[in-house]
Amino acid sequence: MRSRLLNVPLPRLHRFRGQAIIIGSESLASRAPGRNAARDTGLDPAAARLLHRDTHPKGRPMADSTHALDQHALLFQPYRLAGQTLKNRLAALPLFTGYAYTDGHVSPLLLEHYWRLAGSGAGLVVVGNVAVAPDGVTAPNNLRLDKDEFVPGLARLARVLRDAGAVSCAQLNHAGRFARTEAPLMPAPMDATHLAFDMTSLKAFMESFPLEERFGLTWMVMRKAASWQAGMSREQRQDVIRAFAQAAARAVAAGFDMVELHGATGYLLTQFLSAYTNRPATGGSLPLAKRAAFPLDVFRAVRSAVPPGYPVGFRLLVREWTPDGVDLPEALEFAALLEQEGAAYVSASAGTYNSIFNPAIRRLTARPGYLRQECAALKARVGLPVVTAGKILTPPLAERILQAGEADLIGLGRPLLADPDWLRKAQTGAKVNACIDCYACLRRIVRDQGLNCVRRPPKEQKRVDLEYALQGRQTYKTLIVLASAEDAGRLRELWSGRVPARVHDAATVLFLHPEGGDVALAQARDDLRRWCQEQWRDHGLEPERLRFEDRTLRGAADDLVLREAEAGNFGVVLLCRQEGEAWRERVLLRRDRITGLLGENPGQGRVLVPFDFSPASLLVLRYVSRAWPGDLTFLHVLENGPREAEKQWREAKELTGLDEDTPLAVVARRRGPAQDLLDEVVRGGFDAVVMGRRGQGGLRRLLLGSVSAAVLRGLTKQTLILVA
Ligand SMILES: Cc1cc2nc3c(=O)[nH]c(=O)nc-3n(C[C@H](O)[C@H](O)[C@H](O)COP(=O)(O)O)c2cc1C
Ligand code: SF4
Repeated sequence: MRSRLLNVPLPRLHRFRGQAIIIGSESLASRAPGRNAARDTGLDPAAARLLHRDTHPKGRPMADSTHALDQHALLFQPYRLAGQTLKNRLAALPLFTGYAYTDGHVSPLLLEHYWRLAGSGAGLVVVGNVAVAPDGVTAPNNLRLDKDEFVPGLARLARVLRDAGAVSCAQLNHAGRFARTEAPLMPAPMDATHLAFDMTSLKAFMESFPLEERFGLTWMVMRKAASWQAGMSREQRQDVIRAFAQAAARAVAAGFDMVELHGATGYLLTQFLSAYTNRPATGGSLPLAKRAAFPLDVFRAVRSAVPPGYPVGFRLLVREWTPDGVDLPEALEFAALLEQEGAAYVSASAGTYNSIFNPAIRRLTARPGYLRQECAALKARVGLPVVTAGKILTPPLAERILQAGEADLIGLGRPLLADPDWLRKAQTGAKVNACIDCYACLRRIVRDQGLNCVRRPPKEQKRVDLEYALQGRQTYKTLIVLASAEDAGRLRELWSGRVPARVHDAATVLFLHPEGGDVALAQARDDLRRWCQEQWRDHGLEPERLRFEDRTLRGAADDLVLREAEAGNFGVVLLCRQEGEAWRERVLLRRDRITGLLGENPGQGRVLVPFDFSPASLLVLRYVSRAWPGDLTFLHVLENGPREAEKQWREAKELTGLDEDTPLAVVARRRGPAQDLLDEVVRGGFDAVVMGRRGQGGLRRLLLGSVSAAVLRGLTKQTLILVA
């Protein structure tokens, strides 16, 4: 359908026009042949298409080079690891991403990340840091496996890895004293000396952050240290052991090929193993056998929770680099104990948050392949397969390590983040985009900014940031507020167009009942519930992601809705328009994040998306392209030249994953942004407007933004969704 908008009659811009495209997951997925991962797993199809073009092996031409590793290189040889065949000897090491939703569920960003990682061609991909208990998370957006409800999401993740040809492994973790909880668990009480073993280390840690953030960080770590008051009770230890075992069973149920226990980075298992953090209350020190008891108990419990022969690996701290901390001789002894217990492999790691920022340690770890000797010592001591780590920057170095028999698998953490084409470049000899050891990725994690790498192309970095920002708005959790039978009908109409709960989404339908009840509303509620159950079943959606709640209305309805939205941490709140009921508009006025009023035709209509190239409107674009049904028309009120608009639109489409032929309609600015927009809504017969909050001034405008306030005033029957 041709845009009915008044377009500026400029020849270049005519190229934006053409067929309007209905953007929704089904339609995009079906237009992306061969991308089954997108269709079957809930991987965002727009992102899948974008990644497919950018980085997937099948999408990339191979370059010839004289420096290529030949096809007989050990790196490319298949490897049998505990009954599983890896297509080569490259392992993607676990890297915490912070990409899970803040309730621990798998998100599209996370699927996308691992899909890309598996697309690198690595034989084994380890999913980093999956928490076994809510009090074991390192951040709110830590993947979790402490309840069955997490299994379907993890199953999707395992399928994404399998589809890309990788053997999948879930790394199970409890963060112990580093967990984001008011009452962290640890083997023994600790004090401020456990923040860092010396001032140089703490100073270096702080100095790696911008000045303005150091005060907040210092406060955070001091607060943390103040909570390290008591060691774990016997019951607490038993609980954690059980939690590991149950999480392992869930990983099996989710379809992972193996699990790995996180015994590094200074988390709980390391805290027990290390004499630096596991000290008897009476003073002195504990022998290794005593310190090893808890991690070994966990290991045994996990083994008995998984089927016989199911591989259980161990991320092993080979050097802690703290006084009394784990050093190589103890790590070797512990590896031998793990071998006796039937470990599938050990994966070497070094340093904890106490030591890795220390300047002397930074010099040590600046050397490419800095764990070669330790891995060679492990190979000499145990018969277990050994995965190496530590700045294996180039394919020739990887090959030398394998040829020298210093490790069985080459583990890449940051090098693969910096360059997902690392393995293909090994084949072709093209120059690897090497990690520069700047630790910007780690600093982002510490600051809850989500994993990203300064070596990735700027557009890719921006895209991840955009997605992360959108995810931070909890778009996957929607609260729909219904206060009349008519409201219920309107929701039904919206969902008849397209059941919104894509595999990730959770929706709560909140019924506001008047005191004394409303027969029509009660009936509508029951009907809607039945209808929704059928819809969810027909679409194969998880029924537990849809909830029905009831509240009796006492006091101001907008207060109640805002309280509910806050308490449930809902990203999106939707209400229906209703003339004469000002509280509904007040919710829109008072709330930021994503809030909307559903108009007369909420289901199938034509949707106008004003777009001004600001970061806020990029967010809107990303939101609608993945979450909003209908026939979308993107509109730009022209302020700069048309060439500039064309260029920026192209970039915006790349960033947000919109189809490259998605048209942008433009109108010349005439009566101001709000009025021009309203004119187009009327002229184009639009049913809905989805836009960012823009502009300041005046109390109402301060809350809502001047343009959005004017648009709200000007629309009477259309749906209006505001994204902030
Ligand atoms: C941002 C970041 C996150 C990490 N997250 C994890 C993790 O979740 N689990 C783990 O065992 N190691 C983690 N590590 C350690 C890496 O797996 C790896 O051992 C380390 O980065 C050194 O190897 P590399 O030079 O190949 O990156 C992390 C490292 C970084 C930089
Ligand atoms: S951000 Fe820096 S340290 Fe991290 S992977 Fe990229 S280049 Fe390496």
